[in-house]
Amino acid sequence: MVWLEASVQWLHILFAIFWFGSTLFTDFVLMPAVMAMSPAGQRELGQRIGPIAARLEPRAAVATIVLGALRGTVFGPVQSPSALVGTAYGLTWLASLLLAVGLFAFGEWVLTPAVARIPGATTPEEQARLIGQVRRYTLIQLAAFLLILVAMVLMHYEG
Ligand code: HEM
Repeated sequence: MVWLEASVQWLHILFAIFWFGSTLFTDFVLMPAVMAMSPAGQRELGQRIGPIAARLEPRAAVATIVLGALRGTVFGPVQSPSALVGTAYGLTWLASLLLAVGLFAFGEWVLTPAVARIPGATTPEEQARLIGQVRRYTLIQLAAFLLILVAMVLMHYEG
């Protein structure tokens, strides 16, 4: 059923674009603009964007991970323990899975709480420090996304 495998891959890539794309947009468009705004403007923007991102991004992340897991197993070559740990494809797939789950956990338990702390800042200096912390966290995310993308391309040639 090639069409089913192709649909899983298409949806996997679509959700991955949303998840990874959000981080690229945040790092290269949103954050530079936010850093140049007034403290009041930063707070209002954060209060509007924060809840939407906190609702949509985990869904895109879970969909990406589940579809990627299916693409490698049910619709891919990782169908036994030996294929998982005894082949380059299996190891690359496993590394991607672990990295992506770690990235998801980092988003949920480190980044999102850090964003939620920003409106509670009592001085412009504290607010600037909290925004700087969020920026560093999104750069860490970016590094992990780039590694995962390398793994995706590797699997294409290992498969
Ligand atoms: C942000 C995370 C991810 C991004 C941006 C991403 C992106 C992509 C892209 C662009 C492809 C197509 C690659 C190609 O055909 O050359 C792909 C394929 C694939 N992805 Fe992901 N992916 C992500 C996470 C994951 C995770 C966590 C898994 C495993 C649980 C996974 C498993 C796969 C598999 C098995 C393929 C097919 C590889 C092949 O055999 O050609 N992906 N992904």
